[in-house]
Amino acid sequence: MKKLSDTDQRVLNEFIGSITGNTQACIGYPANTDFDFSELEALMKYPLNNVGDPMIKSAYVFSSLPMEREVVAFFAGLFRAETENTWGYVTNGGSEGNLYGLYLARELYPKAMVYYSDATHYSVHKNIHLLGMPSIAVRTQPSGEIDYDDLNHTIRMNRHLPVVILANIGTTMTEAVDDLDKINHILKDNAITRKYIHCDGALAGSFAPFMSPKPSFDFMDGADSIAVSGHKFFGSPIPCGVVLVRKSNRDRIARGVSYIDSIDTTITGSRNGHSPVFLWYTIKRLGIGGLQERYQQCLALANYALEKLTAIGIPAWKNSRAITVVLPEPATAIKLKWQLATENGFSHIICMPGITKDQIDAFTDDLKASRS
Ligand SMILES: Cc1ncc(COP(=O)(O)O)c(C=O)c1O
Repeated sequence: MKKLSDTDQRVLNEFIGSITGNTQACIGYPANTDFDFSELEALMKYPLNNVGDPMIKSAYVFSSLPMEREVVAFFAGLFRAETENTWGYVTNGGSEGNLYGLYLARELYPKAMVYYSDATHYSVHKNIHLLGMPSIAVRTQPSGEIDYDDLNHTIRMNRHLPVVILANIGTTMTEAVDDLDKINHILKDNAITRKYIHCDGALAGSFAPFMSPKPSFDFMDGADSIAVSGHKFFGSPIPCGVVLVRKSNRDRIARGVSYIDSIDTTITGSRNGHSPVFLWYTIKRLGIGGLQERYQQCLALANYALEKLTAIGIPAWKNSRAITVVLPEPATAIKLKWQLATENGFSHIICMPGITKDQIDAFTDDLKASRS
């Protein structure tokens, strides 16, 4: 292959420079920069592809399926899933995991109504639309948690239909967590037996098991499927995620394909073979203890940020176990510099792994200066 032209080389160098220089100010999106995968660099030379079902041995040599299986087993343990009846795979991100959960729900209950709070991530609406499922958006409380009275009322109005609940385990803007205990009570009160609960844990699912008290969200709490993002709390240079479902539900959609000598159980055909290795590496290096510690550090930083913002007179707030701090929308220059996502007059910062006290100090200094 020939070398890049001088112009193209300059474009590439400038791009690399801009990416490197921008990491310091990215505190408004859940971007985790706390990883070092240099030991895995040798793998960049190979076209890793985990096509097919992760639980079936592949004849294709460039795959990381054994590591993918370990990743799935790790998350199954984290989410208290039944070992014998659990299946999952490494996805391209939380959105694909949510699509998968909803897809299984639709196969199980084609006539079901989907209920989700109006704080739900935008990609979920698109998934519901793609699947052609009828749905109702339920109100949220000021914290971003679903309004249980409104959920109860809405389900009661439609109690002749099977229920699919899309619960948020960390909403995008305020990191609010819907409570499966309360949701299960509502379903019981309305005598709903045909039900499916999918948990969107893209943001907080992977550290929810470390929260104290632990929220009610996992398989033992009544979830039928859970999706998380892998590039957020765990960290990966490539977007990825994990979805876990009950194996008996997955069996309903499995179809044998001789071309890949496997069964077609995933959303896409070709699947990223590098991202399972990133997740596997983080799991092996950090283990449960390291991940727990990582969450405690993020939480401590979020509490620190809240104190700093309050001290300069900003009415910031956060949900108690969250690493997201919500504040009134600041001046445009501040939003642009610090990459702050904004909705309905509120912005937030997310104290992801890799963010430091120095960044929080510099951010609050900037805010203070902009206000004076
Ligand atoms: C609550 C929630 N759900 C889903 C997603 C989508 O996840 P991904 O970007 O991994 O596809 C996000 C992304 O931020 C999110 O915050």
